[in-house]
Amino acid sequence: MLTIALSKGRILDDTLPLLAEAGIVPAENPEKSRKLIIPTTRDDVQLLIVRATDVPTYVEHGAADLGVAGKDVLMEYGGQLYEPLDLNIARCKLMTAGKVGAPEPKGRLRVATKFVNIARRYYAEQGRQVEVIKLYGSMELAPLVGLADKIIDVVDTGNTLRANGLEPQELIATISSRLVVNKASMKMKHAELDTLITALRQAVEARA
Ligand code: ATP
Ligand code: PRP
Repeated sequence: MLTIALSKGRILDDTLPLLAEAGIVPAENPEKSRKLIIPTTRDDVQLLIVRATDVPTYVEHGAADLGVAGKDVLMEYGGQLYEPLDLNIARCKLMTAGKVGAPEPKGRLRVATKFVNIARRYYAEQGRQVEVIKLYGSMELAPLVGLADKIIDVVDTGNTLRANGLEPQELIATISSRLVVNKASMKMKHAELDTLITALRQAVEARA
């Protein structure tokens, strides 16, 4: 059995067509179903429906053999995972952002983000003193109410920033979703995984 960890929303929307091209179609619609383990048209493949930030955890611990996660989530997680394929989906940028026209604060910068590890690493590399404030969502609010000077979040169209009087500032990384594979599975289930990865690679390349 091959177990694939996916999250609902854009990763599921963008990954299902690629899986379909590899001959894997869920037996029921994962967006609508309350089930968290979804069988597929292939008896030897099942899907786990997990939170986006939990995908690397399921895969690293071997509860899933493989999964799909944003590079932002993987950078934040760290961990020991194979990352054999860039699926080129859910593309966006990880950026710092702040209030339009706000001067750079003197002294210690306060940065609100759900990506606390990335934030610490990024500012440490710049030798900049920061206070990192962990949030779980709606990061754009933080500079508006004086909780932080800046945020670190993913930006696509920039509409969310603009709607809140913020502007994108520094680019930390360009982001897309990656196929991640458990290290032990890669050895134990090499033939099955290799076939699936090759089929997915062909589906990705056919779109480029
Ligand atoms: P969780 O549900 O665990 O809080 P999430 O809300 O970040 O996670 P999604 O919104 O489904 O989950 O995002 C999944 C991935 O898609 C992110 O990790 C990121 O790589 C990418 N992503 C996030 N926002 C955008 C966007 N606006 N445009 C394109 N890609 C995005
Ligand atoms: C993500 C991200 C930003 C927004 C950026 O949120 O957290 O808020 O997209 O996209 P934009 O630059 O095109 O506006 P998402 O839409 O995934 O909502 P979420 O808060 O549920 O993750």
